[in-house]
Order: sequence, then structure tokens, then C-alpha cells
Amino acid sequence: MNLKVFLVVIFATLSHAKVALYELALSDENIFSACPDTAPGTLDIHGFFDLSECLTTLEEDGIIISGNTTFIWDIQPQDRIKMVVKLLYFDRGTWSPTFFSVIAHDLCKSMYDSRQPWYPFWTGHVKNVEDVMDKCVNPGTKLIYETYNMSPTFNMKTIREGLYKVHYNLHAFDSDGTERPTNICFDVVGNLLKKSGV
Ligand SMILES: *[C@@H]1O[C@H](CO)[C@@H](O)[C@H](O)[C@H]1NC(C)=O
Repeated sequence: MNLKVFLVVIFATLSHAKVALYELALSDENIFSACPDTAPGTLDIHGFFDLSECLTTLEEDGIIISGNTTFIWDIQPQDRIKMVVKLLYFDRGTWSPTFFSVIAHDLCKSMYDSRQPWYPFWTGHVKNVEDVMDKCVNPGTKLIYETYNMSPTFNMKTIREGLYKVHYNLHAFDSDGTERPTNICFDVVGNLLKKSGV
């Protein structure tokens, strides 16, 4: 299996934009890996989604996604879902935070909001959006995707080569603010190499 994906990085300043091509070599053939050293009650991506009907193919120009995913996380329909996504860089033996992090304190309110950073990579390609919009990540909800290329194009000022990790964490809270007994944690780990460009 090809574990390499090309990324287009646009370095934009006020006066001009330069484009560079990077190659991301994913560390895990399943794309997503479980978080290391988690506390009891932490589930990996398979505790969040049933991915058995979701097809992902790594192509040179991106990750092609099709099929559908069904949420299976055991939460209650009115729960508040907090999602944290962080980009980490492996620097001198430790994972260090970078400029990039997203915190959705109430994911259900913004899950299908086109201004959110996950929209072009995920919920923007849900075909049955009318049916699932109000269902958030309630167990049994099936998102049906159009076939799309998760061709990652990034706008940024600077980036360095090396080992990166996108770290995803989800927590659910009942109406009193008490956290549910399980949370979700998974990572995407890959090595970034510059191929051409600036
Ligand atoms: C879900 O995906 C599978 C695999 O691609 C497909 O066979 C099935 O028809 C899909 N179900 C729906 C409801 O789209």
C-alpha cells in the first residue's frame, strides 16, 4: 500500500503567494492510530465511527474518500461535544505544539458550518446532510459521503520538514456538565518532506 500523499502548501503574504509541493509519508497504513498512553475510558477512532463501509485510497495527489461512516460512540443525543484538534511537531525527542489548533466547545452547533476548518476535509462532503444535520454524532447516525479527494492544500507562512502528528480528542458532557465515562482520542502521524517549490 502506498502511504505517501502529496500536499500543496501555499505560502501567502500580502503581496504574493508561493506554492510548494510536499510529500507526507503516513506512519500507519490505516491512516489513524490510537493515542499512546491513554487513561482508561479513552477509545480510539473505532470507538467513534464504524469505518467498515468507508473506503479510503491513498493516491499521489491525495486521499480519496467514499462510502459512509456510522457514529457508534455511546453518548446521549443532547450531550455537548467538545472537539480539540492539534498539530504537533516532533522536536528533539518530544511532541511540541505548533501554531495550529482548533477547539470546538460545542461541535454540534458548528459541525456543518462551512467556515470551520474541518468542513472542506470532512462534513462538507456529506451527501445526506439534510437528514443528519440535527443528529450531531449521536450513535447510529450514518454520514454518506460523495467521493472526494481530501487533497490537503494549506495556506501558511512557514513550515518545516519533519515528523508531524494531528491529534484529535473528543469529550461528551451531559446537561449538568458532567463528563461521560468515555472519550475519543486518535492521531494521524506522518513525515513531511519537501519535494519542490520555494
Ligand atoms: C455505505 O457504503 C457501502 C460501501 O461503499 C455501500 O455499499 C452502501 O450502499 C452504503 N450505504 C449507503 C446507505 O449509502
